[in-house]
Amino acid sequence: MARKANTYLVHVVPGLEGVAQQEMQERVADTHVTDALSSFDERTSLLVVRSTAPPGDLLRARTVEDVFVLVADDKHVAPGRTGLAQIRKAIADSAMLEAAVSSAIAVRPRRKGKVTFRVIARKAGTHSYRRVDIQTAVERTLAARFPAWRLVEDGAWLEVWVSLVGERFLAGIRLSDHSMRQRDYRAVSLPAALKPTIAAAMVQVTHPEPDDVFLDPMCGSGTILIERALAGRYRLLLGGDRDPAAVEATLENIGPRYKPIEIRQWNATNLPLDTASVSALSTNLPFGKQIGSPEENKTLYPALLQEWARVVHPGGWLALLTSERTLLRRSLNRQEGLIADEEIPVLVRGVPSAIFTVRRARP
Ligand SMILES: C[S@@+](CC[C@H](N)C(=O)[O-])C[C@H]1O[C@@H](n2cnc3c(N)ncnc32)[C@H](O)[C@@H]1O
Repeated sequence: MARKANTYLVHVVPGLEGVAQQEMQERVADTHVTDALSSFDERTSLLVVRSTAPPGDLLRARTVEDVFVLVADDKHVAPGRTGLAQIRKAIADSAMLEAAVSSAIAVRPRRKGKVTFRVIARKAGTHSYRRVDIQTAVERTLAARFPAWRLVEDGAWLEVWVSLVGERFLAGIRLSDHSMRQRDYRAVSLPAALKPTIAAAMVQVTHPEPDDVFLDPMCGSGTILIERALAGRYRLLLGGDRDPAAVEATLENIGPRYKPIEIRQWNATNLPLDTASVSALSTNLPFGKQIGSPEENKTLYPALLQEWARVVHPGGWLALLTSERTLLRRSLNRQEGLIADEEIPVLVRGVPSAIFTVRRARP
């Protein structure tokens, strides 16, 4: 018997909507993005996803920050006070709440004692009521509907997240926890360490293959290499950095895991690797803010691209992240053998940046 489709709300870093959609459709059977509310705020875009897969399957997506099962969706909430009444009604009348709680139980075992819950409310757009008014309205409606539940400030078993984006009201029960976006593999973090979900996107856009020889030539604390290791099979992972502290941090973060993997101290403009020996390269270049300088980047970027055109084999993918978009665009245009493909805008620690996807030309 065909599984019934459920609707989920998925949070992603603004700019990564397309990459996350691609990853979810590749990783989770019968899963489709039906709607996107981009850049809800600086940190979050919201995707509406339909899937017949078990609730836990979506938690396997690595480019996704958080997953919720939908309990209410009202597209026409008034900006005036009647809007609050509509929100109360959407929660009070929701036919999805009980099923959503079962999905939460399926993913996160029910704790002993009373069900504890917490409401997190967010709002974008102009309304005559405040974010806290929405939160209180939802708290009271849930408490009336589930008298046995207990409202708590923190550490709740059930988190109900509600978002009002202009006239659209969406509510969902959280299935993920903080480990989905923060990961627990990082023993050592360096100042310029990349957000794991962005690193996972940097892997996804290199179209991973099981026989990949995957290179991060400026690996910092190793986030991109670890995300490649957790994204699927590979033949060899290669990483390095000119900073011995970065090499140390990467070795600490990988420990005895993810073999075969080789980490070295090197200069990425002169790599001890054979020509055309790498199938995919993904790296987070120095922005010239915390590391290096805009002046240094003017000569560094062209030198890096020349060396990477040598080591990546024809047809191979490169993913390059920087805030120096003009400089990289110009350097790519001048570099023979590298074909610029897409620029995916993304905010990195609040800095407008972009992931450049690039193909190594075939002869
Ligand atoms: C933005 S950081 C990478 C952060 C990394 N993605 C992470 O998550 O930790 C850039 C790295 O490039 C390294 N780097 C800069 N110039 C280099 C060069 N010529 N050769 C090798 N590494 C270099 C820096 O030491 C720094 O660790």
